[in-house]
Amino acid sequence: MANTATIEINGQKNELPLIKGTENEIAIDITKLRSATEGVITVDPGYKNTGSCESAITFLDGEKGILRYRGYSIEELAEKADFLEVAYLLIFGELPTKEQNDKFHDDIKAESIVDEDVKKILDAFPKAAHPMGVISSLTSALTAFNPSSVNVDSEEDMYKSVVRILGKFPVLVAWTFRKKEGLPLDYGDNSLGYVENILKMMFVKPNGEYTQNQILVDALDKLLILHADHEQNCSTSTVRIVGSSHAGLFASLSAGISALWGPLHGGANQAVLEMLEAIKADGGDTKKYMAKAKDKSDPFRLMGFGHRVYKNFDPRARIIKKAADEVLGDLGIDDPILDIAKGLEKEALEDQYFVDRRLYPNVDFYSGIIYRGMGIPTDMFTVMFALGRLPGWIAQWREMRLRKEPIGRPRQVYIGETAREFVPIEKR
Ligand code: MLT
Repeated sequence: MANTATIEINGQKNELPLIKGTENEIAIDITKLRSATEGVITVDPGYKNTGSCESAITFLDGEKGILRYRGYSIEELAEKADFLEVAYLLIFGELPTKEQNDKFHDDIKAESIVDEDVKKILDAFPKAAHPMGVISSLTSALTAFNPSSVNVDSEEDMYKSVVRILGKFPVLVAWTFRKKEGLPLDYGDNSLGYVENILKMMFVKPNGEYTQNQILVDALDKLLILHADHEQNCSTSTVRIVGSSHAGLFASLSAGISALWGPLHGGANQAVLEMLEAIKADGGDTKKYMAKAKDKSDPFRLMGFGHRVYKNFDPRARIIKKAADEVLGDLGIDDPILDIAKGLEKEALEDQYFVDRRLYPNVDFYSGIIYRGMGIPTDMFTVMFALGRLPGWIAQWREMRLRKEPIGRPRQVYIGETAREFVPIEKR
């Protein structure tokens, strides 16, 4: 392979170095482009052709439907690992030994108490507040209660911030959910596993014991693993660029949560269920709605199908589809919404229009179905996505800081007014 790319501008040739990754991806290093060409830059709205960094955390191949965390396939991790192991792997680069895993969990448990004054912030929100706005605010507020989490130049300080947020975030998720449900806040039980404790904090009734259901534990564990990281997606890029100014971890995560909220990103799982509810309310005719999806003049948009990176299938969707069938079957759930979902899925997989446009069911299509089957309300789906993505955001933020990446400051091509004289108001 040549080591450089040649770019010719106005008769002047410039050699730009080529970078090759461990999976043979090739990039043009344009770090010297502007200085070498007296000001020429690249423009790439949405960064579809632009790498923001070199990263060793997650590899995905959109054409082949490959997703690996630190070299391990998502299929193997979803089947053989648990969420806390995967969080450790993403953040520190290796699967933990039993001792490392136990210490990691103990350190997280030691940080799972949230300052009582945070409840006053939670109480200030109306019940109707969207949980993503609540959890983003509470996450940012954690900085005020843990100021040492901002200047984390040492790996030791960074580790303390990491276990602190991994301990407190699930509590905030549960509290956000219970506030909406009008239930007293619960602190969970440190004798439980990480995911078991999340379920207990969310669903324990104030007047009874919580009985773990292994089907739900396994389903949530798998869902969190499948959402744990996805290289430089919108919310992860947000976490990295906010962190690049040396803002603290919690503030960077809060920004990432806000980015995830959008229906074009993490909010898609909520939008899928709202679409299914609308189809049900209109009689449940999936063929009618798939026809509407084909009609360019129809405002109906099919949510939960296709992916901007995966061109043939989303490997996470294949895993989660199997889990959806198992969970709902095991729970004996017979929900007309789920029948509508299966109707849309069948149409999309068999209709050449959708096959040609690679509009196959993605991870958001199935995750909402499982969350619904688990009794999680629709507007909490994206919060559950954030709970899964937390270790990925942490890993990417930590990598950016340890690699001492520069502050993110993109350039632009100006297309506004050229220089002009000020005109006093009486003469306008
Ligand atoms: C994700 O997992 O973040 C979503 O699939 C979106 C993406 O990767 O762009």
